This record gives sequence, structure tokens and C-alpha cells, in this order.
Amino acid sequence: MSNCVFITGATSGFGLASAKLFAQHGYKLILTGRRIERLAQLADELGQQCQVHYASLDVRDSQQVAQLVAALPEDFKQVTALINNAGLALGTDPCDKASLADWHTMIDTNVTGLVNVTHALLPILTQQTVASVVNLASIASNWPYPGSHVYGASKAFVAQFSRNLRCDLVGSGVRVTSLEPGLSESEFSLVRFGGDQEKYQQLYGNSNALQPEDIANIIYWLVEQPAHININSLEVMPSSQAWNNFNVVKQAN
Ligand SMILES: NC(=O)c1ccc[n+]([C@@H]2O[C@H](COP(=O)([O-])OP(=O)(O)OC[C@H]3O[C@@H](n4cnc5c(N)ncnc54)[C@H](OP(=O)(O)O)[C@@H]3O)[C@@H](O)[C@H]2O)c1
Repeated sequence: MSNCVFITGATSGFGLASAKLFAQHGYKLILTGRRIERLAQLADELGQQCQVHYASLDVRDSQQVAQLVAALPEDFKQVTALINNAGLALGTDPCDKASLADWHTMIDTNVTGLVNVTHALLPILTQQTVASVVNLASIASNWPYPGSHVYGASKAFVAQFSRNLRCDLVGSGVRVTSLEPGLSESEFSLVRFGGDQEKYQQLYGNSNALQPEDIANIIYWLVEQPAHININSLEVMPSSQAWNNFNVVKQAN
């Protein structure tokens, strides 16, 4: 029986690059995301290398998630790896200028969505001899920065949820990792900047940011670790990125 990976957000960025890499290694793929036409095209391409099942999925909808998992085709029922990758940041305004609707969307996607998918797949994962959950957190889980408010807090949830899952799953064969990337070039910032290409270029131009393939390599490496190893968390930045000074605001006497 071959390994089977369930990827959320497989239409772009890390999820897309991971789908391609797992396909090269002969994994069965369950590819999900909202943009079904992209999934169909990807399934067509990767179907030459491995078995692919794809389905439109909005992770925010717990019923849709549960139905999709319940209706997995026979060949795809034994999921051995879950890549909880779907997520987004919206806006860079400071907290007092941020949109409440954007805050809700980030919480609904990054927190509720990730919880929905995890809950639906745990009964399957715990039946496997060895399985993996890789949760896409962020350096924003660990470090504050201006404009990160709800995005960073939602990713801090992902990091802590990952550790707490480990406590309950220890001994079950299910490993859990919180993967915490820094600046990575994908549609992520285009989404965050509301489609503003100029801002996107300003951020990524000459930045030597991580590429989706770099993250896919790490995800694959995590999943392929021997059964007795659990990488609890892994924070990764491009070598061009580091922390900066603490901010001290001077006040007039
Ligand atoms: N890029 C970075 O710098 C960076 C750094 C640290 C962590 N991360 C995290 O890594 C993950 C992947 O990011 P990325 O850089 O690959 O971004 P991306 O290229 O924008 O990909 C995000 C993926 O999430 C999916 N998605 C968004 N909302 C969804 C929803 N409601 N239901 C289902 N799928 C949804 C999108 O698919 P559809 O739109 O087709 O649904 C897309 O496939 C995210 O969780 C992000 O927070 C990114």
C-alpha cells in the first residue's frame, strides 16, 4: 500500500510545490483548494506520475470538510500525511486601521479551517502505523512585527495547537510538526496586498526569499523522517532575513 498525502491549498505556492514533489516520489495525492480549475489542471499533469484525487474545498466550511473526507474514494482512504497548508494574511495596516472582516477571514481560515481539517482526518491518521501532520505556521507565530496582529496570532495558535496535538497523539504513530517559514515568494503577499503587483515587487525584488520548492523539500523531509523521530517545530528564514531593533518611541517632555 503506497503512502497517501492530503494537501490543503494545493492550488498555489507551498501546497502546489509539495504536490509536485510528493508526486515525484509516487505518493497518492489528495489535492484540495477552492480554485477547482487549477486543481483539475494539476491533477492532469501529475496523474502521469501517481494516483491523484482532487476536490474543491473551502477549509472554513466544517460540513464540506467532513463530507469530503467521508467520501474519499477507496484507494485514497488511508491518508498517511496531512499537510495543513491553506492559509492567508490580509492587509498590512496597523491594528487600529485594520478591517474586522479581514480579521475574521484570517481566523476562519488559519484557525478554524486548520482545526476542521485536522479533526476530520485524525480518525484516519491514528489508524496508520506511522503518519505525519505538517501544520503551516510562520515566523509570525513566534515573533511580533507591525501589522501582524491577527495573522501572527492565528499562526501562534497553529504552533501551540501542534504541540498540544503531540501531547495527545504521543505513542499513536502520528507525528506533528509546526513548520514556521519566513519570507517566501508565492501568491501569499499578492493576496495580502490585495493584488498590488508593485508592492509585491518591492517586497520580493532582490530579496532572495525562500521559494515554494524550498518549503516543499522541507515538508517532504519532515514526512520522510524515520518513525521514531518527531520534529516538533522548524523555523526557517531566507539567509537575507533576520530580526531588527526593538522600537523605542521618544516622547517630548
Ligand atoms: N509565503 C510566505 O511568506 C509564508 C510564510 C510563512 C507561512 N506561510 C503560510 O504557508 C501557507 C501557504 O502559503 P503560500 O505562501 O503557499 O501562499 P499562497 O501561494 O497564497 O497559497 C495559499 C493557498 O491556500 C489556499 N486557501 C486560502 N484560503 C483557503 C480556504 N478558505 N479554503 C481552502 N484553501 C484556501 C489557496 O487556495 P485557493 O485560493 O484556491 O482556495 C492557496 O492554494 C499559508 O498557511 C501561509 O500562511 C506563508
